[in-house]
Amino acid sequence: PTGLLQDRWGRPLHDLRISVTDRCNFRCNYCMPKEVFDKNYQYLPHSSLLSFEEITRLARLFVAHGVRKIRLTGGEPLLRKHVERLVEQLAQLRTPDGQPLDLTLTTNASLLARKARALKDAGLNRVTVSLDGLDDAVFRRMNDVDFPVSQVLAGIEAAQAAGLDNLKVNMVVKRGTNDDQILPMARYFQGTGIALRFIEYMDVGATNGWRMDEVLPSDELIARLRTQLPLVPLEATARGETAVRWGYADALGRHDPSLGEIGVISSVTHAFCGDCNRARLSTEGQLYLCLFATQGWDLRSLLRNGASDEEIAAAIAPIWQQRDDRYSQLRSELPPSHAPSARRIEMSYIGG
Ligand code: GTP
Ligand code: 5AD
Ligand code: SF4
Ligand code: SF4
Repeated sequence: PTGLLQDRWGRPLHDLRISVTDRCNFRCNYCMPKEVFDKNYQYLPHSSLLSFEEITRLARLFVAHGVRKIRLTGGEPLLRKHVERLVEQLAQLRTPDGQPLDLTLTTNASLLARKARALKDAGLNRVTVSLDGLDDAVFRRMNDVDFPVSQVLAGIEAAQAAGLDNLKVNMVVKRGTNDDQILPMARYFQGTGIALRFIEYMDVGATNGWRMDEVLPSDELIARLRTQLPLVPLEATARGETAVRWGYADALGRHDPSLGEIGVISSVTHAFCGDCNRARLSTEGQLYLCLFATQGWDLRSLLRNGASDEEIAAAIAPIWQQRDDRYSQLRSELPPSHAPSARRIEMSYIGG
C-alpha cells in the first residue's frame, strides 16, 4: 500500500532522525542550559519511550515510504541502555530493492571509546561526533559539565580503530565563546579523513536565549578560514544536504581530495528548507516534520492501540504529503526582533 511520498513542495521523505533518549550528560548552553535542565527537570518516564521493537517497526514502515537514511540522536543516544541492540535491529532493514540503509548516529562521544566496537559489530555505518573546541578550557565551558576534551578525542580514535569510516565532526559556533577554535579545529582535522562541519548557532527550542549577535555567519567563517587555508568550493553530493562543502587546494591551486574537506551548515543565514527531506521521530514516538515544529503526530498511540502495519503506513502518508514546513526560510524573512514561539520543542526531545 506504500510508495514514494512527496510533500506540498515536492520534497521527498529521505531521512528519518530518531531520538532515543531525552537525556544527556552534557549541558551545552545552546541545547540543554543548566538553569533549565537542572536536578528537578522531569525527563520522560521509561514507559513513555518507544521500545526498540516499536522503533524498528516504525522505521520499517518509513523505509517502505522512501526513507534511505536513519540517524539516531537524542539527547545523547549512547545513554540509552543497550542502544547497540537497536542498531542491530535497524541494520537488518532493507529498501524495497534490497539495499541496506545509511545507518548513523550523532553523539557527544563521551561514551564512544567504550561503545565503538559494539556499535560497529551491530552494523552501524558511521558516526558524527559533536565537538565544539580543542582547547580544554573552551571545551569544558561549552559542555558545561567540566568534561575533558581528551576523552572525546579518544572516542574519535576508538571509532576509527573500530572501522567506523566516514566520521564527521560537528562544531556549533558561538561568536565570542568558541570562535577562536575554528582555525585550530580545521588544522587538527585536515587530512585525517574526518569531515569537520561548522554549524551556525540556531534559534532552536525555547530555552537557549538565542541572540543573532552570537551567530557567526558561515560566509564570515569561510572568509576568515580562507585567509589561512587554501579552500576551494565543492559540488553538493546529494540533494537536500545540510552542509555546503569546501575542499583544500594543493600548492598549485588544484583541489586535493587527500587533504579532506570541511562543511558549513548555515540554517540561520542560508536556510536550506527548499530541499529538506528530513522527518523526526521523538523519544516518545511523536512524528515531527520540522526541527522548529510546535506540534507532532502521535504514532505511539497507533502502535499501542493495536493498529496494523497497513493502518500505520496509511496514517503516515498524508502527514508527509500535507507537509508545508520551512521554518528557517520563513524565519530569515522576519525582522530579527521577532520573538520565538514559547511552545517550540526542545532539540534534546525532538532529536537534533
Ligand atoms: P550527514 O548525513 O552526515 O550529512 O548528517 P546531517 O548533517 O544530516 O546531520 P547532523 O546530525 O550531523 O546535523 C548537523 C547539524 O545540522 C545539526 O546542528 C543539526 O541540528 C542541523 N540540522 C540537521 N538537519 C536539519 C534540518 O533539517 N534543519 C535545520 N535547521 N538544521 C538541521
Ligand atoms: N544550534 C546549532 N546546532 C545545535 N545542536 C544542538 N543545539 C544546537 C543549536 N542550538 C547540534 C549539536 C549536534 C547536532 C545534532 O545538533 O551540537 O552536533
Ligand atoms: Fe547533549 Fe548534544 Fe545537547 Fe550538547 S548538544 S547538551 S551533547 S544533546
Ligand atoms: Fe527542514 Fe525545518 Fe530545518 Fe527547514 S527549518 S531545513 S524545514 S527541519
